[in-house]
Amino acid sequence: MTVHTVPTQPIAGQKPGTSGLRKKTPVFMQPHYLENFVQAIWNGTGGAEGKTYVLGGDGRYFGDRAAQVILRMAAASGAKKVIVGQNALLSTPAASHLIRLRGADGGIIMSASHNPGGPTEDFGVKYNVANGGPAPEPVTEKIFEATKALTEYRILDAQDADLSTPGTRILGGMEIEVVDPVADYADLMRSIFDFDKIRALFADGFRIRFDAMHAVTGPYAKAILEGELGAPAGSVVNAVPSPDFGGGHPDPNPIWAKDLMDAMFGADAPDFGAASDGDGDRNMIVGRDCYVTPSDSLAVLAANATLVPAYAGGLKGVARSMPTSRALDRVAESLGLACYETPTGWKFFGNLLDAGKATLCGEESAGTGSDHVREKDGLWAVLFWLNLLAERRQPVAGIMADHWAKYGRNYYSRHDYEAVDAAAAGELVAALRGKLGSLPGRSAAGLRIEAADEFAYDDPVDGSRSEGQGLRIMTEGGGRIVLRLSGTGTEGATLRVYLERVETDPARMQDDPQEALAGVIAAAEEIAGIRARTGRTAPDVIT
Ligand code: G1P
Ligand code: ZN
Repeated sequence: MTVHTVPTQPIAGQKPGTSGLRKKTPVFMQPHYLENFVQAIWNGTGGAEGKTYVLGGDGRYFGDRAAQVILRMAAASGAKKVIVGQNALLSTPAASHLIRLRGADGGIIMSASHNPGGPTEDFGVKYNVANGGPAPEPVTEKIFEATKALTEYRILDAQDADLSTPGTRILGGMEIEVVDPVADYADLMRSIFDFDKIRALFADGFRIRFDAMHAVTGPYAKAILEGELGAPAGSVVNAVPSPDFGGGHPDPNPIWAKDLMDAMFGADAPDFGAASDGDGDRNMIVGRDCYVTPSDSLAVLAANATLVPAYAGGLKGVARSMPTSRALDRVAESLGLACYETPTGWKFFGNLLDAGKATLCGEESAGTGSDHVREKDGLWAVLFWLNLLAERRQPVAGIMADHWAKYGRNYYSRHDYEAVDAAAAGELVAALRGKLGSLPGRSAAGLRIEAADEFAYDDPVDGSRSEGQGLRIMTEGGGRIVLRLSGTGTEGATLRVYLERVETDPARMQDDPQEALAGVIAAAEEIAGIRARTGRTAPDVIT
């Protein structure tokens, strides 16, 4: 087999965002595009020579072909071994686990997460490091630098490797080990949760609806929930991964998982509903007539962690991304735990987890996880809820009511303005940044502003500083408005406006967060002039 050294030129814009390099699929399919980026991963991380990698993805369109290119390039650059999920499938948390379990040097995950897939939709490539987590900023920076200096890439001239059955293959001088994508992950879940208790819950007639959204968690949820824990057959719906996610948007939130919401708020609803995203790292939790926001879910898991065998000894600390609601902080305070506030993106949790400073962490964007892997983990969050429901034997709504009565309720919502003109969005942020200093002491929509700043993070483990991580405006009574631009969008700019308010008096608690947040929403509009600057009258997505 011949190794080809192909001359190439740097391709502009190959800068990894919040979660790897994400582009429209046709962009990734352009000549040299994928190859350049993969070569830059090797070049930016000291070469592939002698290394062992994990490779898999969420099954989206082009993933099968991209896997073959990546394998040929790994072999051409002297990698020792690549461990690949059967049919190139691996959920993101399963890939993270496999990297750790096998002591691999890193891994490549082919996914654009919750973004739609298909010939005209999105594709992505993310590099994870040896701890199993997304490459931290200094590493993605080196990869980006490498994309700008490329003159050639190396690729083996070979037929496709057979990824359809587990086993070992040889490609050039490299070993390919094809593994069952579910088995090791299922072992890990069994070691964390009380499967017997959850089995007893289902045996007593407890009903679940898990919507895999035609994405990668289908096979995992089928094997674990139905196969092992005894949930009735058919509890997992949309369980077969499809290259375009059944034409849907594999994002587990009330908008895109509307079928699940309808089922959970309809007649004869199951006891518990859940969903996961394209690559299996996000989760959505919904009880009968009760949607649980990701921020609240994180707080509930922290408050109930000792009910789960793996966390029975207590948590070392907790962490949340800055825009995530401060419901977690209230639990942490009551339990006497350290609570870290990090920039958006899972990569910022890695150091805290590695250093044993935090056990649980989460983001408002449906991401929850722990130190069992170095990614957020959708099915893990669902099993966590099942474990605590099996212990507490209460409806989800009852658990939430108890939680709010004890800790207070942080009303929370995120308003997204998608595909906004990038220049207009940039100007909005720049204008707001310019007036942050003048805001404290002033009022907006009748709310007094107490503080305003731009979030910067000093990593307590490696001392690195990340600036420009979102604009924050704190109002009286524990209110907060956060604005930032998405780092994962592929079209124009996405403006995210995060809104929060606290209520500690149970007598005054309302059901509808949008109503409860009306004052904060009006203040955000008055301060940032979103309508005038974006030309939009309402957000595209409210979560
Ligand atoms: C979004 C979410 C963020 C999450 C990321 C990857 O990033 O907001 O919490 O970590 O997707 O799933 P954003 O588009 O806001 O940069
Ligand atoms: Zn995801």
